[in-house]
Amino acid sequence: MKGGYFITGTDTGVGKTIVTAAILRSFIKKGLKVGAMKAIETGCLNKDGILLPSDGMFLRDMAEMSDSIDLITPLRFENPLSPFVAAKLENLEVEIDRVFKAFDALRKKYDFIVVEGVGGLMVPLRKEEKKKATFYFVRDLIKELGLSAIIITKPTLGTLNHTILTIEALKSKKIPIKGYIINFSEPAKNDIAEKTNPEALRELLDISFLGIMPYLSDLNKDTIGETAIKNLDIESLISG
Ligand SMILES: Nc1ncnc2c1ncn2[C@@H]1O[C@H](COP(=O)(O)OP(=O)(O)O)[C@@H](O)[C@H]1O
Ligand SMILES: [Mg+2]
Repeated sequence: MKGGYFITGTDTGVGKTIVTAAILRSFIKKGLKVGAMKAIETGCLNKDGILLPSDGMFLRDMAEMSDSIDLITPLRFENPLSPFVAAKLENLEVEIDRVFKAFDALRKKYDFIVVEGVGGLMVPLRKEEKKKATFYFVRDLIKELGLSAIIITKPTLGTLNHTILTIEALKSKKIPIKGYIINFSEPAKNDIAEKTNPEALRELLDISFLGIMPYLSDLNKDTIGETAIKNLDIESLISG
């Protein structure tokens, strides 16, 4: 593996999955061998006792992977909650080791691995009975995977606060930050917040700006890939 990224966001629903797909499609267009993981997914559809992870399956398709979904999304829960709470309700363990094992298997096969997180950085994954730091959060997983983080953020009101908090949470754990991408998960409203936020973020933040992903009414492989190449700093992403 030449490199990898962990895609985090300022919140759930900010567009982590779509931007992950955009990075995957652009890397494939550039001829790179790229693999994806949605390491932990909650809110999976239970089909005859089998949990189907929609993000994991979408990313598997976008990256055109033939690997088992058990490698792409090793941890799956039914309730649409944080993994910690979902696992508790479902009487299951959040076995983080399974994520590391799957990651190790995939990294042997691909030049790049792009891992989508679950929610934001402080989503609890499990309770650590024996350790001093009681909870294991998404940011602990990023740190242990040894990946750089890419932050997906919104263009709308509230984004300055959420983005700065996210950066602080990464910095306090000394997690390398590749940069941030502003994603339009809804058609642009063109209100005053959306018009001023991209520039305000650039002025406020001391991390790299990697581009703006526009709203796409058609989310197919080609449009996602072409839009990513046009709008995101793919050369910087490829440089690792
Ligand atoms: N750039 C985009 N263009 C069109 N729809 C988008 C875009 N980004 C996100 N969406 C839509 O917004 C919703 C949330 O995006 P998603 O990537 O699933 O967020 P997250 O993974 O952070 O929870 C989804 O329905 C997705 O299809
Ligand atoms: Mg997602």
